[in-house]
Amino acid sequence: MSYEEGLSSTITDWLFFNSWWLLLPFIMLLVVAAFIVAFVLLLYMISPLISPKPLKLNGAHVVVTGGSSGIGKSIAMECYRQGAFITLVARDEVSRNKQNINVVLCISVDVSKDYGQVESVIKQCQEKLGPVDMLVNCAGTSFSGKFEEVEVERFRSLMEVNYLGSVYPTRAVITTMKERRMGRIMFVSSQAGQIGLFGYTAYSPSKFALRGLAESLQMEMKPYNIYVTIAYPPDTDTPGLAEENRTKPLETRLISETSGVTQPEQVAKTVVKDAVQGNFNSSVGPDGYMLSALTCGMSPVTSITEGLQQIVTMGLFRTVALFYLGSFDSIVRRCMIEREQSKAADKRE
Ligand SMILES: NC(=O)c1ccc[n+]([C@@H]2O[C@H](COP(=O)([O-])OP(=O)(O)OC[C@H]3O[C@@H](n4cnc5c(N)ncnc54)[C@H](OP(=O)(O)O)[C@@H]3O)[C@@H](O)[C@H]2O)c1
Repeated sequence: MSYEEGLSSTITDWLFFNSWWLLLPFIMLLVVAAFIVAFVLLLYMISPLISPKPLKLNGAHVVVTGGSSGIGKSIAMECYRQGAFITLVARDEVSRNKQNINVVLCISVDVSKDYGQVESVIKQCQEKLGPVDMLVNCAGTSFSGKFEEVEVERFRSLMEVNYLGSVYPTRAVITTMKERRMGRIMFVSSQAGQIGLFGYTAYSPSKFALRGLAESLQMEMKPYNIYVTIAYPPDTDTPGLAEENRTKPLETRLISETSGVTQPEQVAKTVVKDAVQGNFNSSVGPDGYMLSALTCGMSPVTSITEGLQQIVTMGLFRTVALFYLGSFDSIVRRCMIEREQSKAADKRE
C-alpha cells in the first residue's frame, strides 16, 4: 500500500469512528417507527378479541318496524336471505302476498302512539316466534321545508314517529334481551342525523335524538352482551324519498345532489352486516364513512381498527368538511339572491 492510500484509509476510519453519532437521530427515528408499527400490528391482532361475537342470523327472530317498504323492506329481505324468521311491523295492513319474502308474521300497529299497544304486539310475536334476537327500528318518515313554512304540528309528529316510534319497540324487547344476555338493537337514523342541513329543521332533530338514545342505551346494555347499532343511510331510492322530494326546497335539493342516491338493497347489506357484528356506527359509502369519522365524538367503538381510523383521519376529514360547508353556504346564498332578483323583476312588470 502506498503512502497516499494508507493516509486515505486512515482518514476514512477516523471519520467512521468519530462521526457515527451523526446517524443517531436517524437510528432513533427508525426505532420509534418500528415501535409504532409493532404497536399498531399488536392492536390489529387483539382487535377481534375485544369485538363482540357476531350474531348468527340463521334461525334468529328479527323484528323490522317499517318493514313493508323501502329500506325496512330491504333489511327484512336481507335478514330473511341469511336464514332469519321475520316479523314485519307497519301501520297499514301488511299483506304477506305483497311482500317478496316469505315473512313469518305481519303486524299492523302504529309504533309511535300507544306504548301499551306496541308492548302487546311484541309479546304476541315473541309467543309465536320466540324471543326477539334483533330489533330493527326502521319505521320513520321524512319531511323537508323551510323552518317558518313547516306546520308546527309537523315538528311534533316527526319527533313522535322517528324518535318515540323507536323508543317504544326497544322498550318492549329489552327486558327479555337482558334476561337472555344477548341481542341487537338497530336504530335507523340518517345522514341528516349527523349534520343539520337547510330544510331539515323538523326532520334532523328527530334523527339526532336517536344518537343520544343509542349512545346512552349502549352504555347500559353492554354488560348484558346487547349491542346497539345506529345506521346513517344516505339518500336512498325509496317511496319515502319520492314523497319527501315533493316538498323539498330548491336549496335542499341542490345540496342533496352533491351526493348521489343509493339503492335500498345496498343500504340493507351494510347495516345488517354492521348490526350482526355489533358495530355501533353504520355508514354507507365514502361520504358516510367520512361523516361517521367526523361525528364520532364520544360514541362507543367496538373495534380498535375503527378507533385508530378515526384518530388518523379526523383532521383531514374536517378540512374536507369545511370545503363542503362553504359550498353549501354558497348554494343557499345564491338561491336567496336569485329569488330576490326574480321577486324584484316581478314587481317591476
Ligand atoms: N329513503 C331515504 O333517503 C332515507 C335516508 C336516510 C334515512 N332514512 C330513514 O329510513 C327509514 C325508512 O325510510 P324509507 O325511505 O324506506 O321510508 P318508506 O319507504 O316511506 O317506508 C317507511 C316504512 O315505515 C312504516 N311506518 C311509517 N310510520 C309508521 C308508524 N308510525 N308505525 C309503524 N310503521 C310506520 C311504513 O309503513 P306504513 O305507512 O304502512 O305504516 C313503511 O313500512 C326512515 O326512518 C327514514 O327516516 C331514509
